[in-house]
Amino acid sequence: MSARYQLSGTTAVEISAGIESGIRTGALSPGAALPPVRALAADLGVSPATVARAYQELRQRGLLVTAGRHGTRVRPRPPVAARRSALRPPSLPGARDLSRGEPDRRLLPPLGPHLAALAAGTGPSVSYSEAGVLPELAEAARARLDADGVPAEELTITGGALDGIERLLGAHLRPGDAVAVEDPGWANLLDLVAALGLRPIGVPVDDEGPMVAGVAAALAAGARALVVTSRAQNPTGSAVSAERAEALRTLLDGRRDLLLVEDDHAAELARVPLHPLAGATASWAFLRSVSKPFGPDLRLAVLVGDETTVARVAGRTRVGAGWVSTVLQRLVLALWSDPAVDELVRRAAQSYEQRRDGLLTALAEHGLRGHGRSGINVWLPVPDETSAVTALRDAGWAVAPGALYRIAAAPAVRVTVSSLHTDDLAPLAAALAHAANPTPPPGFPT
Ligand SMILES: Cc1ncc(COP(=O)(O)O)c(C=O)c1O
Repeated sequence: MSARYQLSGTTAVEISAGIESGIRTGALSPGAALPPVRALAADLGVSPATVARAYQELRQRGLLVTAGRHGTRVRPRPPVAARRSALRPPSLPGARDLSRGEPDRRLLPPLGPHLAALAAGTGPSVSYSEAGVLPELAEAARARLDADGVPAEELTITGGALDGIERLLGAHLRPGDAVAVEDPGWANLLDLVAALGLRPIGVPVDDEGPMVAGVAAALAAGARALVVTSRAQNPTGSAVSAERAEALRTLLDGRRDLLLVEDDHAAELARVPLHPLAGATASWAFLRSVSKPFGPDLRLAVLVGDETTVARVAGRTRVGAGWVSTVLQRLVLALWSDPAVDELVRRAAQSYEQRRDGLLTALAEHGLRGHGRSGINVWLPVPDETSAVTALRDAGWAVAPGALYRIAAAPAVRVTVSSLHTDDLAPLAAALAHAANPTPPPGFPT
């Protein structure tokens, strides 16, 4: 904990408010250790139960984490920062930044021409009573999902995949409930689960998706929901294979006590076929985001599922945010309807595949096995993340430490390939090889 930040308060509410304010202002940085309950209680002249209540409340809102002998700490990305960019580690001057997990902006379709065409045909805003899911968008989405074998009769629109997941978990679960998530898995989902006061149960992942034994163990441990990334799993690039989908369907068949959520965020960018689990359980939802192929700022995902699940999300949206702007919906429809955009997306998918495969091949030449069946990331196991990230930084490459994505999975680093050039592959692979197999210091062998 920062030596300068003084915790204060005589009630649990005051203590937790003080800690929250320290996190918000940056005085308590992500990862900062808080004093043990008894020590802080003695310091503030209150009972340990009061401090424990304050910590508990902040844990349930995803601001703090308590991890055995590591004590209580500020979570890596607590959900109180005003700006998303404030959560990012600063860029390193001169280093190539492969840590962001973002698509290459140069490969996203330009929005200008479609916005201009929309502008030309747009009058005053539609009214509250007219707004909702545009039937033309729903029809186009259904055709796309049907083609991939996803039943899309019941459909709504959310402000992106993560918004959909939040609404689904909020509608089906209560704080304290357990959610099975991929381990390693998407950091934002882990943050969301913490912020909703849910308990993550890690399910190990291999190149073919969540492992069946891991899902079975999570179910046995009482998971009320399971979130599966269909393709371009973040961070490992895994994609649910036909065999894995079959085995998971058999395991989940007909379950009534589990909400199954599938996140197909890569959508048209994935170069591997979709093997959906949709419909395996009574409560299910499948989300397809437009962020990766068409641009993250569009903030739109299509959500389909069983009637009750879709109605819960649509109903809750209606009494809150209302709907996703029909202006955005029309823009997405225009992008979906343009063969030139299809071609751009196809080329982007191909280009990511070449960069990913190029890096995996270059790593194999150093005897290293990275992972990345689909998407824009390569996941490379390393013995020690901190020293690997530091060695790479010294060599001019910024990568993401696996700790952001892991619960119990082994250490690794995530390398985003979206901005790589062919010339980068050999030097990057050499730097990764050095980072993954550091030369031992001279002296006695360990
Ligand atoms: C696994 C996963 N799901 C979803 C998304 C994007 O979701 P959204 O539609 O909210 O932009 C990402 C973006 O990185 C992701 O990695």
